[in-house]
Amino acid sequence: MPFFSLKAWVQERLPVSGEQLRELTNEPVPNHMKRWWFCLGGTPAYLFLVQIATGIMLAMYYQPAPETAYESVRYITEELTFGWYVRGIHKWAATLMIAAVILHQMRVYFTGAYRKPREINWMVGMCLLIATLLTGFTGYSLVYEQLSFWGATVGANISESVPVIGVFLKKIMLAGDTYNEHTLPRFFVLHAAVLPVILVLLVAVHIAIIRVQGVSELKFEDEPPKGPEHFNFFPDHLMTELALGLVLMIILSALATILPVEMGPKADPLVTPEVIKPEWFFYVMFRWLKLFSRTAAILSTGFIVFTMFAWPFIDDWLRRKTRIPEISVWIGILGVFLMTGLTVWEAVVAH
Ligand code: HEM
Repeated sequence: MPFFSLKAWVQERLPVSGEQLRELTNEPVPNHMKRWWFCLGGTPAYLFLVQIATGIMLAMYYQPAPETAYESVRYITEELTFGWYVRGIHKWAATLMIAAVILHQMRVYFTGAYRKPREINWMVGMCLLIATLLTGFTGYSLVYEQLSFWGATVGANISESVPVIGVFLKKIMLAGDTYNEHTLPRFFVLHAAVLPVILVLLVAVHIAIIRVQGVSELKFEDEPPKGPEHFNFFPDHLMTELALGLVLMIILSALATILPVEMGPKADPLVTPEVIKPEWFFYVMFRWLKLFSRTAAILSTGFIVFTMFAWPFIDDWLRRKTRIPEISVWIGILGVFLMTGLTVWEAVVAH
C-alpha cells in the first residue's frame, strides 16, 4: 500500500492532525526554565526510562529464588556479554534518580512552587518520592548478598514496630513471619512490576497536573525586562532535555566503567554481618532509628512524613501566624542540614 493512502487510511480511523498533536504537547515554557536546576523534574523522568530499559534486560537473566538469585547476578556481572555494563547503568541510574528526585523536591520547596494552586501536585510528588525509595529498597534486596538479605530482614523487623499494623506489614513484606523461599519472588514482583506501574501512573498524573496549571512563573533580575516571557516546549525545551539525556548517558557509562558494580559475599541466613547498612538514601532513617527507641523513632518518622505531605497547608498557616514570609526557607535550611548531618554520620561510623 503506498504511504499516502496508508496515511489517509489511518486519518479516516483516527482523525487527529499533526497540528492538533503539536497543540496538545506544545506547552509554553517560562524563560526561567532554561536554568537546568529549575527543570530538574525531567532528570528523574529520563533516568526512570533508563531504568525500565536496563531493568528489562536484567530481568531476562535474573532468577528470583534464594538458590539461584546470587548466581544469576554473578553470571550477569562476570560472564554475560556487556552484563556488567547494563547492571552498572541500572545501579548508577538508580542512585542518580533518587538524588535527582531529592534535588527536584528541594528546588520546588525553596522556590515555594508547592503553594496554591499546586498543593495537590506536591502531594503526588510525595507519593513519587516514597515509590522511588521503595523501588530502590526492593532492588537492593534482590541480589541476595549478605547486605541485601540482612537489609531486608532489618527493614522487615523495623516495620514490625509500626503500631497496630506492624505485624501485618512484616508478614506482607516477607511473605511469612521470617525470610523464606517466597520472599525474593515477592520483592522481585514489587520491584519489577508493581512499583514501576505505580511510578508510571503517578508521573502521568504529575505531568497532567503540570500541563493543566503550567509551571510556576518566576522572573530573575538578570533577565531582560522586555522580550518574550516564554519559549516553546517543542522543539526548544525537548532539545535541552535530549542534550541533558546524552550528558547523563555519558556520566552513567563513565560511572559503570570506572566504579563497576561488584559482588559482595553471598547471603548466609545463619551469619549476621558485623555491620549492616542500607543504601545511602536510607542512612537518614537508619541513624534516626539508632538515636531513639524503636517506637519513638517510628512514630516521629511517621509524623515527619505526614508533615511533609501537608506542608503546603502548614506553611500557609505558619506564614499567617508568624508573619514571617520566608519561614519555610529557614525551616528548609534546618531540614537540609539535619538530613545531611545524619547521612554523613551514618556513612562514617560502623555502628
Ligand atoms: C519520579 C519523580 C518525579 C518526576 C519524574 C517529576 C517530574 C516533574 C517535572 C517534569 C516537572 C516540571 C518542572 C520541573 O522540571 O521542575 C515537575 C514539577 C513539579 N514537581 Fe515533580 N517530579 C517528581 C517528583 C516530585 C517530588 C518528590 C515532588 C515534591 C514532593 C514534586 C513536586 C512537584 C511540583 C509541586 C511541581 C510544580 C513546580 C512548578 O510549577 O514550578 N515532584 N515535576
